[in-house]
Amino acid sequence: MGIARALVSSEDPNQLVELSYVSKATQDMGLSSLVSLFDFSHKWNQDHELTGVLFYENSHFAQILEGRREDVLFLWDKIQKDQRHKILHRIEFDEIDQRLFPNWALRFYGGDQIARDVPHLTGLLDGLPSHDVELLRIMRSVSKGNQD
Ligand SMILES: Cc1cc2nc3c(=O)[nH]c(=O)nc-3n(C[C@H](O)[C@H](O)[C@H](O)COP(=O)(O)O)c2cc1C
Repeated sequence: MGIARALVSSEDPNQLVELSYVSKATQDMGLSSLVSLFDFSHKWNQDHELTGVLFYENSHFAQILEGRREDVLFLWDKIQKDQRHKILHRIEFDEIDQRLFPNWALRFYGGDQIARDVPHLTGLLDGLPSHDVELLRIMRSVSKGNQD
């Protein structure tokens, strides 16, 4: 067995991990498409103890997912193949000690809601910043003010 293979097979499927990415919608998502995406995802995440946030703004998605490695990777495989968007890039995939969004199976943020809940972020999220670090900072900052 090669070293890479040995490393992969020794990874703990129960380890808590965080994955984040940015993608672009293949078609502009209307409200009903967003609601059905959200409803399905929220339920699946809840059933699998996945937590995180999903942003949609100007035809771009950004998402942070947290959970067991096995569940996150299983879902990531599906998300990458999903025809509703194309992945622009994965920002991070890291092992974590604790969740940033323990109470949110999937918190959805669109522009209007951000303006209402976190007004100081409104301008920043216009079209989603292309800089990974800045985008992650914004996504994580919503976990601080709104824990319920
Ligand atoms: C931007 C985006 C984010 C998504 N996030 C989730 C999610 O958090 N949880 C989930 O179960 N499905 C999510 N999905 C849906 C999956 O890509 C996929 O449609 C779903 O897992 C069903 O896959 P299946 O039809 O192959 O079973 C997301 C899709 C998109 C386009």
